[in-house]
This record gives sequence, structure tokens and C-alpha cells, in this order.
Amino acid sequence: MSGLEGVVAAETKLSMVDGERGELIIAGYPVEELAPQATFEETIALLWERPFERGQDPSAMTYDLLETAARQRVDPMDALRMAAATLSGKDDDEAARNLVTAFPVIVAAYWRLLHGQTPIALRPDLGHAANYLYMLSGDVPDEKRVRGLETYLNTVVDHGFNASTFTARVIASTASDFVSAVTGAIGALKGPLHGGAPGPALDMVFEIGDVARAEAVLRRKIEAGERLMGFGHRVYKVRDPRADVLAAAAETMLGRGNALYDLARGVEAVALRLLEEYKPGRRLQTNVEFYTALVLHGVGLEVPLFTPTFAISRVAGWIAHCFEQRRANRLIRPQSVYVGPRGLRWPSPAAQPVT
Ligand SMILES: CC(C)(COP(=O)(O)OP(=O)(O)OC[C@H]1O[C@@H](n2cnc3c(N)ncnc32)[C@H](O)[C@@H]1OP(=O)(O)O)[C@@H](O)C(=O)NCCC(=O)NCCS
Repeated sequence: MSGLEGVVAAETKLSMVDGERGELIIAGYPVEELAPQATFEETIALLWERPFERGQDPSAMTYDLLETAARQRVDPMDALRMAAATLSGKDDDEAARNLVTAFPVIVAAYWRLLHGQTPIALRPDLGHAANYLYMLSGDVPDEKRVRGLETYLNTVVDHGFNASTFTARVIASTASDFVSAVTGAIGALKGPLHGGAPGPALDMVFEIGDVARAEAVLRRKIEAGERLMGFGHRVYKVRDPRADVLAAAAETMLGRGNALYDLARGVEAVALRLLEEYKPGRRLQTNVEFYTALVLHGVGLEVPLFTPTFAISRVAGWIAHCFEQRRANRLIRPQSVYVGPRGLRWPSPAAQPVT
């Protein structure tokens, strides 16, 4: 019962995760078919069952909040959570469009404010992924970087009943609004058990630096009881299919023979061999985070932007689940088993007067 592992909480047409076969289906398409080919807008349209149209730019209130947060050096995920709560829409459709449109605007504006730069306005002629990169730097990105980012956004847009998606659906099931559902979901995503491993995975590859050192460094880590970042998964007991999609994207983006790509491949092979040696039978395989790190690094993003970029994708999945929940809503309200004492008398002999 602990952690609701194995409990079926809903039916969904949005995505299917098969941890034994290493399969991920998104809106009917195998992830390896959809992710490298569709634009992010096309993926959203599949999940929402309607074409994606851009929503409104965030209001002055959102920018004022981001400026105050930047002065206090607030963490980017906390700033995104605060700023998302300032968004709105007159109905679900408008809120959905405004949220997805605003996420890259907020993350890019906040990143620039943190670095003492002025936010850059979205360009109507660029797509969602290209706009995010443009608003971060002011340069229109080349096609290769845009494709790399779109492949990433498509790969992580939805993944069964993960913790943040479940959070969004619980909130939507109370007939609350989409902005509240998404704000709550950001809170769930920012927890280190959910959204946070690609930064440390990249740090590990950089720390190793040379594949000849991989075995010694990784043995030391495992023997010290450390976890190797980017390996192991609660659901996948075979290779995470998203790792292959992102490995291919990283190779295309960084180019064949790229030193970092070769190093990562080499580190992965040594890590898998050592995990099997030290943890036989635990079936620890490469997960999505290992190659996320490489793709996002190749796209040119810095480590503190990795989790906010995950949110820029997943917000579309959260909203798809909110729409799905709305279509056949029933309040999500499980039960608990009471295991505390009963029949106590007041005042308790143990109670101390408050002085
Ligand atoms: C993802 C993760 C939390 C899943 O954990 P889980 O399903 O709870 O697995 P468990 O904690 O039960 O681990 C089972 C065994 O494998 C070991 N293990 C799991 N992941 C490991 C890793 N990445 N490196 C080394 N050992 C690992 C555990 O220490 C445990 O060993 P034991 O049986 O000797 O105690 C875990 O694999 C992990 O911490 N991975 C690294 C962080 C990461 O990449 N997170 C991103 C996930 S997408």
C-alpha cells in the first residue's frame, strides 16, 4: 500500500508505460516514432485533441513578481511556481493556452533577470521550442538545436500517473481551475525524487572526464554507498525507452565523434557493468535523466535550467490530464486506515500546561 505502488487510479488515453517491456506510448504513438519527428505543438494537439493556439503573454504582475524574486535569488523552480500562480484564463481552454504559452516566457525572463538582463519578448514567427531558446539568449537558434529541444520536450511530455500528473488530476477533480492544478503539480515536480537528476548526472560525467578513469571513479562511488545518477527506475526494469530516443538526439546534435558523447557512452557501459556486479538481480538500467543531461547540454542550456525545462514540457501533459479528468469527472478521494489510539479522555494526563 505504501506509495500506492501498483494501484490503478484511472483510465487514460494519454500515455502507457510498460516497465517490463521498456515501452512508452504517447497518444497511440511509440515514443521513438513520435518524439524525433513531431513539433511540440503537434504533440500538444494530439494530447489535447485540438490544435494548439498560442495564449496571452503574462501580465505586468507576473513580471513584477519575477523581478522581486530575482533580487532575492529565488531558485528558478520556486520562481516558476510563484509566477504560474499569477496566470489565469476565463475558462479551461483559455487557461490551458495561457499556461503552456507562459511557461517558457517565465523561465527565460527569470533566467535573464537573474543575470542582470532585460527579458526578451516572444517572437510570433517562431515556434514554441525556438522561442524558448530565443528568449533566453536573444539569438534565433539553428534548426539542429530546435530539433534537439523538441525531441526532448516530446519525450518527457507525459508518463503515466507520475506524482506531478496525479497531483494535477486530484486538484482538477475537485472542480478547481487549471492554474491551481498546474501550480500544485509544479510543487510535486520540483521534489528531488521526481524531477531532479539530470544535473547531477552531467556533473558525474564531467567529474570522470576520461573514460579510462570511469571504472575507478564509479567503483569508489558504489562502494561508498552513493547512487549513480541516471541509472535505476521505479517502473522500468529494462532500459528506459526514453534514454534511447534522447541518446540518438544527443548524437545528432553533438555530432558523430563528439568527445562528450563518446565519454557518456563509455561511462554508461562501465556503469551498467558495475551495477550488475555490485547489485546483481536489481535490474538497474540507464534512465531518461542520463541522456536528458547530454541533450539539454547540447542544446546549450545550463544545469539550473534542466528541471524548469522539464516543466515547460510536462505542463502540456498535466493539462491534457486535467481535460481528461473533466470529461468524466469523479472526485479523487481515497481512504486511509486509522492506526492511532482511540478513546482517550481529555484532559490528557500527559498534557502539560502551556506557560
Ligand atoms: C530512481 C530510483 C530512486 C528508483 O529507486 P527504487 O525503485 O526505490 O529502487 P531501490 O531504492 O529499491 O533500489 C534497489 C537497489 O538498487 C540500488 N540502486 C538503485 N539505484 C541505484 C543507482 N542509481 N546506483 C547505485 N545503486 C542503486 C539500491 O541501493 C538498492 O540496493 P540494495 O537492494 O542493495 O539496498 C533509484 O534508482 C535512484 O536513486 N537512481 C538514481 C537517481 C536517478 O537517476 N533518478 C532519476 C530517475 S528517472
